[in-house]
Amino acid sequence: MPGDPRRARRIAETVLEDARLVTEVRGVLGYTGTYRGVPMSVLASGMGIPSVSIYATELFRHYGVRRIVRVGTAGALSTSVALRDVVIASAAHTDSSVSRLLVDGVTLSLAASYRSLRAAVDAAGTVEREDRHGPDAPRGRAGSGGGSGGGSGGSERPAVHIGPVFSSDHFYLDRPAVLDALERRGTLAVEMEAAGLYAVAAAEGGEALAVLTVSDHVRTGEALSAADRETGFDRAVRIAAAALLP
Ligand code: HPA
Repeated sequence: MPGDPRRARRIAETVLEDARLVTEVRGVLGYTGTYRGVPMSVLASGMGIPSVSIYATELFRHYGVRRIVRVGTAGALSTSVALRDVVIASAAHTDSSVSRLLVDGVTLSLAASYRSLRAAVDAAGTVEREDRHGPDAPRGRAGSGGGSGGGSGGSERPAVHIGPVFSSDHFYLDRPAVLDALERRGTLAVEMEAAGLYAVAAAEGGEALAVLTVSDHVRTGEALSAADRETGFDRAVRIAAAALLP
């Protein structure tokens, strides 16, 4: 699930095989096809927790979907995370009510599916090897570029970080103290959907993960150009698609 319908179309055209358009209600494009012989669909989520929660619930509940990976962009919070890096969200903090309203008296932990998380970390290693040596290169060292807090290490290749993100209901959040406190607690980046997706997956018995490309830096104000956003996004999509394979 990308946020943007145009990205859903691009994924259908460039990643899926035999993809056919199955919905365009409200301009939210959905396609069903296969990937390496496995049934796989792509549906835009729209922006924010309410939007992703509706679509994800219906996919799990009514369409037999078992696993959803969000592919999107995020703003880096931590200085160890650079533009173009990939953040795999092991958990999602949120200022939305989804963590509080679902089980009375309990603040839910909103976490990625371990199976999907592990598959994405493995896939990130494969994607990195392919970028470095081409698709037919022998396997090198295991694992992915970074791990939480790894940073780019001066390399030009984007690093892969695994850790918590902050899914905010507020794109224009003017609360630096909140972001400081979250960063001190190891939060890597801010975006707007992962916590909703993880809450829905937990409620519906499905699996969920978010693989995010860092498109901007909340601290420095730097941002990727439109072209660089698409290149970075394609990398996250390759990781996500591989992570969805059984
Ligand atoms: N905030 C929220 N969502 C985002 C951001 C951000 O800075 N960048 C990309 N998605």
